[in-house]
Amino acid sequence: MSDMDLGIAGKAALVTAASRGLGRAVAEELVREGARVLLSSRSREAAEQTAAEIADKTGSQVIGCRCDVSQAEEITGLIKRAREAFGGIDMLLCNAGGPPGGLLEDLEDADWQKAFETNLLSVVRLIRAALPLMPQGGRILTIASSSVRQPIPGLILSNTMRAGVAGLMKTLSQELGPRGILANTLCPGRIATDRLRELDRSRAEQEGVAVDDLQSHMLREIPLGRYGEPQEFAQVAAFLLSEANTYVSGSALMVDGGMVKAL
Ligand SMILES: NC(=O)c1ccc[n+]([C@@H]2O[C@H](COP(=O)([O-])OP(=O)(O)OC[C@H]3O[C@@H](n4cnc5c(N)ncnc54)[C@H](OP(=O)(O)O)[C@@H]3O)[C@@H](O)[C@H]2O)c1
Repeated sequence: MSDMDLGIAGKAALVTAASRGLGRAVAEELVREGARVLLSSRSREAAEQTAAEIADKTGSQVIGCRCDVSQAEEITGLIKRAREAFGGIDMLLCNAGGPPGGLLEDLEDADWQKAFETNLLSVVRLIRAALPLMPQGGRILTIASSSVRQPIPGLILSNTMRAGVAGLMKTLSQELGPRGILANTLCPGRIATDRLRELDRSRAEQEGVAVDDLQSHMLREIPLGRYGEPQEFAQVAAFLLSEANTYVSGSALMVDGGMVKAL
């Protein structure tokens, strides 16, 4: 737990795509701060196992369940589960796995459709379904990418969907602000998770260089000289989701060690 009181002890949070990586780190941080957390991922076993591991570490109860956020009916089921568990929720973190890499001519309509359903439509569906559980207001946060400011070569699906997410969240900050709901987008730069390791491995393979060499090149782009840790990302997320955040809404905030060069 941080020294700052985030005011989320006892509050209820729903966190998607949280069996690993950034989603897991956010779920764990919220539990450490005293929140009641329901976390989900496509694999019920993985979500339950992660929930059990966080519960072991923290001594708090955590619920894990299945939800593939690209599937409308699974989102309906997840919201029903949250209602049964908590009645209402105070915090919603919308996360999903990232789309595959590729250039325009490598990708077909089906790839675009899948990325849209997983990384943009899922956020629309989750928020629309969760609103009735937030009658007193709350905090909604979506994980996008630093590509919102500076598109990443070779990740056209991600670059396109993330921009849509940022537009959606900015619009929702306007639509939902009068209801006491603060809506933000959090943009990871290069945070050391399984996905990042896999992206580095496949990019090194494509470029015919060693992964270590590719990574040293990447590190030169980051003023802080290292990849971020999931917990560093999670602490920012927990703040934005918390009652301590009283006036940040409609922002797309970089957590990137200074990597993005845009203002
Ligand atoms: N790490 C970074 O530096 C970075 C940078 C920019 C953007 N991002 C984005 O941030 C998000 C999280 O990244 P990460 O690095 O934490 O990825 P990760 O380590 O690959 O973890 C992804 C998590 O999402 C779950 N998941 C994947 N597809 C899902 C779906 N359709 N429905 C529900 N859960 C799903 C996975 O569990 P299951 O396999 O059990 O479903 C897993 O728990 C991704 O969208 C990624 O593109 C990350």
